[in-house]
Amino acid sequence: MNTRKLITLDEFTIQETRQFPQATGELSALLRDIGLACKMINKQVLKAGLVDILGKHGATNVQGEEQMKLDVYANETLIAVLKNSNDCAGIASEENDDHVCFDDEYSANSKYIVLFDPLDGSSNIDVNAPIGTIFSIYRRVSPIGTPCTKEDFLQPGNKLMAAGYVIYGSSTMMVYATKLSVNGFTLEPSIGEFCLSHPNLRCPEKGKIYSINQGNSCKYDAGLKTYLEYCMENNKADGRPYSHRYIGSMVADMHRTLIKGGIFMYPADSSSPKGKLRLQYECNPMAFLMEAAGGIASHGAGNILDIVPTELHQRSPIFIGSKSMVEKALEITNATATVA
Ligand code: AHG
Ligand code: MN
Ligand code: MN
Repeated sequence: MNTRKLITLDEFTIQETRQFPQATGELSALLRDIGLACKMINKQVLKAGLVDILGKHGATNVQGEEQMKLDVYANETLIAVLKNSNDCAGIASEENDDHVCFDDEYSANSKYIVLFDPLDGSSNIDVNAPIGTIFSIYRRVSPIGTPCTKEDFLQPGNKLMAAGYVIYGSSTMMVYATKLSVNGFTLEPSIGEFCLSHPNLRCPEKGKIYSINQGNSCKYDAGLKTYLEYCMENNKADGRPYSHRYIGSMVADMHRTLIKGGIFMYPADSSSPKGKLRLQYECNPMAFLMEAAGGIASHGAGNILDIVPTELHQRSPIFIGSKSMVEKALEITNATATVA
């Protein structure tokens, strides 16, 4: 009889891999590496409130060492862990201008590359609100055995092998998606392992929450303004007005949207014609995950995952979440935009 209740991230990914005889286990190993880096980041996040006592980030501490900013620490930790592993040929990060190739023999022989936003929502650190790490895993297009190339990092989201995030919230969780399913793992601090807590996550088809930085309304186009009016209208039959929730950490806003349903938007506006969020580090991984959970993601005129990136740090507008809510948002914004 199996008396164990907890299944760790590692055990889960290994069991999943066994369903595919041709799988080599590299993807499981990579998820374990990312999990390890995020546990190290989590440890620092938990101490973030003590910086005034232990030494301010960016200042010099009593040992004369410079205290690293949390987003720099998160970036360096992910790079160091992935470089040390055998499973990653290179990375691209929101914090680095260019991609980084790991040019040792083991890394050059691996088939995957990883992109990440090491610390998302970093302006929320000071107020102890949830922050996160977002990651994407692609199979490289350059030949195995050679250094990775920029083309490996400019693949559209529809080529993703896996993507997910770690949320440093009231508890720490990793949620990751493959094309098959989305699963959530909560960090069990006493054993230091992510354990399966939210198997087979599905985003509810309908929701009651819209999430957008509505303070930017004066910069939105007529179509979006009309949709926001629709969200605020009282229509009991359709469950409106919707509640408005906006944390300002994409990971936290997306996690709520995934679990409870709803729509999250970071649109284009008159001062940011492509919106604010980064296609490869933020929009694509969340869009892939949301689709695998039964929701949808659009840039306003098509699927986010179909955009072929032309540069590493490009931005995209995003409308993402419960299928029926996103469809309604697109119907209203597109119809009104053509009239306006
Ligand atoms: P980051 O901290 O990685 O720069 O990302 C911040 C992003 C995202 O997390 C969030 O959805 C958005 O910025 C909030 O932007 P506004 O303050 O403009 O609403
Ligand atoms: Mn971010
Ligand atoms: Mn960031």
